[in-house]
Amino acid sequence: MEPHTGYGQTVAKIILFGEHAVVYGHPAIALPLTSLRMTADVTPTGGTAQESTLSGLGWTGRLQAAPARFASIARAAEVASAFAGHPDAGLHIATHSDFPPERGLGSSAAAAGAVIRGVLDAFDVPATRQEIFELTQQAETVAHGRPSGLDAVATSADTPVHFQGGQPTDLDYALDAWIVIADSGEEGSTLETVTHVRSRYDADPAATSVVLDRLGAITGEVVDDMRAGDIADMGDRMTEAHHLLAGLGVSDERLDAMVTAAVGAGALGAKLTGGGRGGCVIALAADEDSAHRIEEALVLAGARATWVHAPQPGTFAGEGAR
Ligand code: MEV
Repeated sequence: MEPHTGYGQTVAKIILFGEHAVVYGHPAIALPLTSLRMTADVTPTGGTAQESTLSGLGWTGRLQAAPARFASIARAAEVASAFAGHPDAGLHIATHSDFPPERGLGSSAAAAGAVIRGVLDAFDVPATRQEIFELTQQAETVAHGRPSGLDAVATSADTPVHFQGGQPTDLDYALDAWIVIADSGEEGSTLETVTHVRSRYDADPAATSVVLDRLGAITGEVVDDMRAGDIADMGDRMTEAHHLLAGLGVSDERLDAMVTAAVGAGALGAKLTGGGRGGCVIALAADEDSAHRIEEALVLAGARATWVHAPQPGTFAGEGAR
């Protein structure tokens, strides 16, 4: 078949528990946000890879001339073209995203995953889930340094993911709580915060391990909470995880203030999500009314956008970008 415009799609994710600790082999739980999509239309142009162009995610022009933050998209196009047997193919890549980049919602993995799927589709080359994961990881290495793989998995999942040691497993529970997601409006760099935690670990492995171990243990306790439907305990663990992450130096004043505002407005718990130091917080609510009260409090505390995730895995009750 002749090359044609290929299509790739992925979704946003939130990490409920275990960010940063997952890089050190601890377990983590992430939730795909299936109504916040990232899409890529990829058209082979007949030119060379050097001439490939991107429109979307805040850049229109040649991929090679794009700022450093687009390097992982360029890498995604490169590794997928090579996998498809067209290493020097010129491509036009058009992306669309329902969610902001650099906010801990998995934009870099989602963009890489969508572009990779789009390239493979354009050349009609099949790939297994594992092969696509490995290609996405190659792109993510440019964005993150040493990614755990959690973002690459969660941004292409349909159901909540439990992840440890590079291995995902589905979680077969129904989370009977609402989750409010609030964007601080500040960009965060996962590479920067992962590097920060690494340097703390190298400087004081014993003290840093105590914190990472506790973050890992929390994820285990939360799996039990979810099975038992104990959302109050899960909320407590959420706020505890935020304070541990803040202790590791990956929170900031605005995220701390948003966590305090959410808990003050009745959240069962709240924490930063993803890399931190900018990005989003998540808050756990017992019911829909409470979720909306928490949302209002988060907007008053400076949130630029909020989304409310309903109890059923993978569905949204409503989204409102403010
Ligand atoms: C970023 O979304 C999650 C981190 O744990 C990094 C990783 O898992 O590679 C901070």
